[in-house]
Amino acid sequence: MPVPQIFRGRMTMPVIAAPMFLVSGPHLVIAACKAGVAGTFPSLNARPIEVLDEWLTQINAELGAAMAADPSAPIAPYGVNLILHHSNKRLEEDFTLVVKHKVPFVITSLGHPGEVVKAVHAYGGVVFSDVIHAYHAKKAIAAGVDGIICVAGGAGGHAGTQSAFSLVREIREFWDGALVLGGAISDGWSVRAAEIMGADFAYMGTRFIATQESMATPEYKRMICDATAKDIVYTDAITGTHANFLWPSLEKAGYRKGTLGSAGAKEDFGSGAKAWRDTWSAGHGVATIHDIPTTAELVARLATEYRAACALPLSPAVA
Ligand SMILES: Cc1cc2nc3c(=O)[nH]c(=O)nc-3n(C[C@H](O)[C@H](O)[C@H](O)COP(=O)(O)O)c2cc1C
Repeated sequence: MPVPQIFRGRMTMPVIAAPMFLVSGPHLVIAACKAGVAGTFPSLNARPIEVLDEWLTQINAELGAAMAADPSAPIAPYGVNLILHHSNKRLEEDFTLVVKHKVPFVITSLGHPGEVVKAVHAYGGVVFSDVIHAYHAKKAIAAGVDGIICVAGGAGGHAGTQSAFSLVREIREFWDGALVLGGAISDGWSVRAAEIMGADFAYMGTRFIATQESMATPEYKRMICDATAKDIVYTDAITGTHANFLWPSLEKAGYRKGTLGSAGAKEDFGSGAKAWRDTWSAGHGVATIHDIPTTAELVARLATEYRAACALPLSPAVA
């Protein structure tokens, strides 16, 4: 069965609030899990390393207390994202803390997840790997992961370009384990659509930036609400890897459209602005985000939309 036991009966929505650099922290994670969707954060958001120990202690304590107070409540498991790339100098230390705190759900990005899978399985946790191509999915599956996260075109962060329809169906041709779909999913209708396409969960990043509990600045949250899809630019000029960014934040940082090529554009970057801190990422999902609710309010709304979408009849066009 594709949905691992740790998620079964513990969610109000088949949704994972995706890990976001400088955006997701313990407040968002705890609020998401208590509302019944899996809250996650990148380990690198906790700085310095001691803060990661504190965050994991706090999250385990608060979610443990909530579950003890109401054992039948749908309180979702939380997750930590580990960047396995060799440039991540903290990986070993962060991973040691993940194992120490028995983080139930680990999301790996880049690199080979084999070692992580072994250690996390040993204490009963699950490992999902995010991918932008079927090719990467095959490698992660060979390494023993429990789930594949398809990050499709239009997603916030380092998105791919492959259409969600094509990516999910391509991976479903060879993978019958847990499958997650991300990329411009901002409402309950789209969550249901992701399931119908073959995903078990939706992966929602951008929508959770504009919540009360996210660590984004008020200006960033407002920009998400004001932006339309045409404000999103897909460029490798900021970090060297293609990602989707809010154009108004790039403009404020000194970028100009005519010179936003890959090489050399950083020369325009003279205002002391830092990537991710001052240049803000978001996906095409901004098109329908207009408010900054609490996470609990947002999840309640998603659940209403999802249930309405689940009740849709066949098209009247069909005989
Ligand atoms: C501001 C921002 C930061 C992100 N940082 C990370 C990260 O640190 N690690 C990661 O695996 N994905 C990261 N992502 C990607 C998300 O985890 C997720 O794949 C994506 O947000 C889903 O698409 P959506 O934003 O359209 O909902 C980031 C996305 C955003 C918008």
